[in-house]
Amino acid sequence: MNTEQIIEKTEAYLKEKFAGEPTGHDWHHIDRVRRTARLLALEEGADAQIVELGALLHDIDDWKFNGGDVNAGPKAAEEWILSIGGSKALAMTISKLVAEVTFKGAGVDTSTSTLEAAVVQDADRLDALGAIGIARAFAYGGNRSRELWDPTEEYELHNSFDAYKSNTSSTIAHFYEKLLLLKDRMQTQAGKELAAERHAFMETYLDQFKKEWWGDNLD
Ligand code: ADP
Ligand code: NI
Repeated sequence: MNTEQIIEKTEAYLKEKFAGEPTGHDWHHIDRVRRTARLLALEEGADAQIVELGALLHDIDDWKFNGGDVNAGPKAAEEWILSIGGSKALAMTISKLVAEVTFKGAGVDTSTSTLEAAVVQDADRLDALGAIGIARAFAYGGNRSRELWDPTEEYELHNSFDAYKSNTSSTIAHFYEKLLLLKDRMQTQAGKELAAERHAFMETYLDQFKKEWWGDNLD
């Protein structure tokens, strides 16, 4: 089985597995990340097939939905590729890429060891920004019974993955604890440019949210 066929099979598998997923990690998220990653790969000269397969498999078994097991995703990606006849080398490459993509807290280094992982990480983070990013954050927050906002809470810049994992802050807090930090952590030039516009949109959104919350625009 060549890599192109592996990509096709993986797409069909994930399209079904993640159809209708309700927290913003559905098939459409995967597909957007894949399309953005393709574009970034072209601009950066990254290996297109590794990027595509990595983007498709990046959330195959996310720690956020499996009780916090960060090794499950990389392992599931590896097992899937082997199960459809991919080589051990390809399975290992993708498994390592999947392990490097996820955000682990404001103070935790998530730099990547390959250009391909950097591209997929940027593409995934771009989908956490802008109008789509806002929608995904509230979908996730609702699914996890998070409050919209608690104006008395203090935002926390988590220095360890464990602290980040166990946080239960409001969805607005998530903007300050992750989403607004992403633009400065983009690794590719094209990613930085795309992030700037989406970041500005989120800032406008947060201004308006707070105006409405406090009734500033009622008089
Ligand atoms: P990552 O692996 O970097 O977390 P994902 O694609 O798995 O990337 O998911 C990230 C998205 O999940 C966030 O951008 C956000 O939309 C949602 N999310 C994660 N944690 C929270 C949270 N505490 N509050 C609101 N949304 C969250
Ligand atoms: Ni993702």
